[in-house]
Amino acid sequence: ESNEQIEKVLESLRLDDEKLRQIMQYLEKEMEDGLSPATHKNADVKMFPTYVRTIADGSETGQVLALDLGGTNFRVLLVTLLPQSRVELTSKIFVIPQSIMLGEGANLFRHLAECLLEFMRKENLSLTGPRYPLGFTFSFPCKQEGLASARLSTWTKGFTCSGVVNEDVVKLLQNAIDEKKINVQCVALVNDTVGTLMACAYKDPNTAIGLILGTGTNACYVEKLDKVGTWDGDYNEPKQVIINMEWGAFGNNGRLNYIRTKYDEEVDLSSVNPGKQVFEKMISGMYMGEIVRLIILDLMQQDLLFIGQRDGYGDYSTPLFTRGGFYTKFVSTVETDEGIAFANTRRVLEDMGIRNPTFDDCAIVQHICKNVSKRAARLAGAALAVLINRINKPNVTVGVDGSLYRYHPRFKRNMEKCMKTMVSKNIKFKLTLSDDGSGKGAALIAIVADRYQRSQL
Ligand code: BG6
Ligand code: GLC
Repeated sequence: ESNEQIEKVLESLRLDDEKLRQIMQYLEKEMEDGLSPATHKNADVKMFPTYVRTIADGSETGQVLALDLGGTNFRVLLVTLLPQSRVELTSKIFVIPQSIMLGEGANLFRHLAECLLEFMRKENLSLTGPRYPLGFTFSFPCKQEGLASARLSTWTKGFTCSGVVNEDVVKLLQNAIDEKKINVQCVALVNDTVGTLMACAYKDPNTAIGLILGTGTNACYVEKLDKVGTWDGDYNEPKQVIINMEWGAFGNNGRLNYIRTKYDEEVDLSSVNPGKQVFEKMISGMYMGEIVRLIILDLMQQDLLFIGQRDGYGDYSTPLFTRGGFYTKFVSTVETDEGIAFANTRRVLEDMGIRNPTFDDCAIVQHICKNVSKRAARLAGAALAVLINRINKPNVTVGVDGSLYRYHPRFKRNMEKCMKTMVSKNIKFKLTLSDDGSGKGAALIAIVADRYQRSQL
């Protein structure tokens, strides 16, 4: 009987193929709304044109700097492009303190410039002489007005810095750089999806989609110019542009409410951006562990899980009672257990303060994790299928990055399984993990932009 009750809770997370097909239709409609000038303003899925039109061809050489902000780590990179498509890369991770993520925008950009300067000193880069070009991976929704001009439309994930929304982020960064008299020129701002697409396309010319499954989730893809009603640039060859979808906002208008559970609603309400990024909150790493935690708590309250431990809770505190106490990386750890020993699951639960979890406890917790992550994988897979069917080429490669995809033991498999059902039979698709992060892609874009600018002088 208790099994039945648990199944009832988890049933709310299941999405059969029919439901997924419905969601795919909705997404297509939202994409059209984002691309069309008449509906763009109120559209949730913004479909921002990025001004990135071509893919680096390997002939580029030189040194270029990159910043990578918006994922788990903030990185500064130096990318050296050598003849024959060889790339050398050095990078350093810097911390962005919580106080900066939630503070004033001016402090954020000053901090970025300080990290850049420290990195250049460490790498013995000349602080005078010709300016180094810099590519800025800025992984937030931006309305681009050019390659080096982009207004933040809203913060997502954990950031809420004041004074940045609607501002030109490149200007804010460049001012901070100039204030420190650093000889660096930001020549391109790119989303992490775009950097990832570029980095993968450098190796595999069939790459037409960039996907992030990390702290947040989002995708970009190569679209034909005549499909982009909002395009205001030129129509020269190649008649295509990369579109940053910002699919995390899918469902903000209530479209997905019928598949959301009470746990999704709770995650949303306790976030820094209630009502926003509805699709992202059902999928990405910033929220997945929290969904699992809320289900665990619910089952505990119904006396279906950790039975017999209840009296003990008064004596010791478990992070399970704290918001954010169950990390998404634990979901991955729990799901690496195969068979009935549950060594990893046991360890995670013991770290949570659950003394001697029983076999049932472990099995139930793993079952919860599997259901939550499978739902996420199926949602992401279905959304990708929409893109692949739209691109409709015989071979489509998807460049992927992000900690969720990288470390979860079955995310890729679950996604592929769903995609095999949803992608047209005449298309072969491939998911490729990006190996150097999106900073490399941003550097490639920057060097092409820099070369072009110099040729125009
Ligand atoms: C990194 C990319 O590898 O992955 C970043 O360089 C990107 O640009 C990040 O934002 C996404 O993953 P996560 O898990 O760090 O959010
Ligand atoms: C969030 C951001 C988006 C980014 C994604 C992955 O959804 O809005 O720009 O690409 O996270 O990092």
